[in-house]
Amino acid sequence: MKVLVTGATGFTGGWLARHLTKTGDVVRALVRSDSRVAADGLGQAGIEAVQGDLRDPASLGAACRGIEVVYHIAASYRTAGQPASAYRDVNAAGTGRLLEAARSKGVQRVVHCSTGGVHGHIERPPATEDAPLAPGDVYQETKLEGERLARAAGEAGGLEVVVARPIGIYGPGDTRFLKLFRLARGHVMLGRGDAFYHLTFVEDLVEGLRLCGTVPAASGRTYLLAGRRYTTLRDLVTLVAAELGTHPPRLRIPVWPVWLAGAVCEVVCVPLRIEPPLYRRRVEFFTKSRAFDASRAARELGFAPSVELEEGIHRTAVWYREQGLL
Ligand SMILES: NC(=O)c1ccc[n+]([C@@H]2O[C@H](COP(=O)([O-])OP(=O)(O)OC[C@H]3O[C@@H](n4cnc5c(N)ncnc54)[C@H](OP(=O)(O)O)[C@@H]3O)[C@@H](O)[C@H]2O)c1
Repeated sequence: MKVLVTGATGFTGGWLARHLTKTGDVVRALVRSDSRVAADGLGQAGIEAVQGDLRDPASLGAACRGIEVVYHIAASYRTAGQPASAYRDVNAAGTGRLLEAARSKGVQRVVHCSTGGVHGHIERPPATEDAPLAPGDVYQETKLEGERLARAAGEAGGLEVVVARPIGIYGPGDTRFLKLFRLARGHVMLGRGDAFYHLTFVEDLVEGLRLCGTVPAASGRTYLLAGRRYTTLRDLVTLVAAELGTHPPRLRIPVWPVWLAGAVCEVVCVPLRIEPPLYRRRVEFFTKSRAFDASRAARELGFAPSVELEEGIHRTAVWYREQGLL
């Protein structure tokens, strides 16, 4: 199939574009002209890079020409030093623009990558796709808005839409979880560590996304894509510490003063468009439970994550060491 991947200069989109190439698709990637990552690597992997931006409708129309399936992975996510309007313009309005371009160019299916974060803190673990929607910050709110636009476009007819909600994607190429690895070899843990955390190894996740793009009956459905098991944060940190050959941190400090410091950093930095050194979403990582049941994806898509947590942590640590990050 001829497919378009947005976000291919990022962590998940990069893995997905390469996975789809290996499994036989002809892959085009939408790449921003000012992307932090050079598109050369994509070209070497046999991926056609076309310039475009979710804020530029004309570029999206050109990118969708001749495409059968769009995997919409791009999002405004890792940068915290931006106002709410910037998240909304990419994650919600940008998704709307892409859906419109896909429809007008006769694309058959759009796989919309949302996030399990639309459920917010999980009160009753594990959560299924039907758990309450309770986004807890502007990123999660705008991801939910994007998801709703995607679902509405599917319901309007003429375009198949599948919504994927990945959970805690990690693996070689990601630096978001580096902080957790560094914390595991330190002395201080934030909070009691009894919140649940759920990780999904990127290799398993991209196969789940491919299934969303190819299984006929997936049209119109929403799927949580999560790893084989979840743990408490305390147990996760202990597993990472074991991989690193160290003791898990023994000193616990309360969360709320750090959360308050994060809020202050945001108030000062965001209007100046400076990346805050600390922000609430980062601190809430230690307090909000995330534990999911991905059995719908297993049943309907044949999603079968195969990378055990210990193995995924090992492969990630190896990559961090190779990069000189640990
Ligand atoms: N990482 C996780 O744990 C996690 C969990 C659940 C869901 N997700 C979802 O999974 C997806 C991928 O996450 P990730 O962690 O792989 O993200 P990432 O590494 O931050 O990559 C984001 C990608 O989006 C692109 N992008 C941002 N703004 C754009 C715009 N205006 N136009 C076109 N492209 C734009 C970026 O391009 P540049 O290179 O130009 O910046 C980059 O390629 C996102 O939809 C995210 O919401 C992630």
